[in-house]
Amino acid sequence: MGTIARVVEEAPPQEIPNYLERHYWWAYVHPNAVRVFERQWLVNLILWGNFGRLRDAALDCLGESLLGRTLQVACVYGDLTQRMVERLGDDARLHVVDILPVQLENLARKLGPEPRTTLELSDSADLDMPDGHFDQVLVFFLLHEQPLETRKKTVEEALRVTKPGGRVLFVDYHRPHLGNPMRLVMSPVLRLLEPFALDLWRDEISTWLPEGTSGLRVSKQTFFGGLYQMTEVRRTDDA
Ligand SMILES: C[S@@+](CC[C@H](N)C(=O)[O-])C[C@H]1O[C@@H](n2cnc3c(N)ncnc32)[C@H](O)[C@@H]1O
Repeated sequence: MGTIARVVEEAPPQEIPNYLERHYWWAYVHPNAVRVFERQWLVNLILWGNFGRLRDAALDCLGESLLGRTLQVACVYGDLTQRMVERLGDDARLHVVDILPVQLENLARKLGPEPRTTLELSDSADLDMPDGHFDQVLVFFLLHEQPLETRKKTVEEALRVTKPGGRVLFVDYHRPHLGNPMRLVMSPVLRLLEPFALDLWRDEISTWLPEGTSGLRVSKQTFFGGLYQMTEVRRTDDA
């Protein structure tokens, strides 16, 4: 708990982005949100039983042992961060940022005292961190919540703070395959509740990479008939 108190006090206060206030107040901003949603079974239900599978796919991609510096962009309900901490090597460090103090406080409670992990109030679209600071960056189900301009900045910032040779891993929604009945179910649900999410059905994450960048290798894996994706963007400019 000491960690979170120290970091939040030092970090400059952040304005809550309009999209969070407007569309996601019930899930993250409202004081009761954490009490309602911090349930692994509920997160799993929202992801049609795929939370564990997507979490483990991300963890396995990051490595059996997390080495060096890892950044998690935005808190997640459920045990993703605890599982990352379990994989941290002795000298490894995990840094988690979120724009809402209530979410960081919740994560601090879940983690307990954890000296290798730092939690910081920060905007994914404007990270207060040096270029090339992290070996790997995880962005788990954040992009679909953000409007286009913010989403592009989040992608750009995640890549900026990643070392040459490092990678950014995005786990998020994706366009389901033709014939997947989830297309019919999820299209109206997302349209109603998550107004920017269908952008991930229309476009590949690679279309939001900063213009004119080279030295990036993109690879994608999909899950649950294409409804979810894990896209890795590796910086290959490590010569
Ligand atoms: C990662 S997303 C959704 C994750 C997933 N649905 C879950 O199970 O929690 C939710 C988090 O993103 C954070 N967030 C949204 N916009 C952000 C931004 N611009 N910068 C940092 N964190 C942000 C929210 O405060 C919230 O804690």
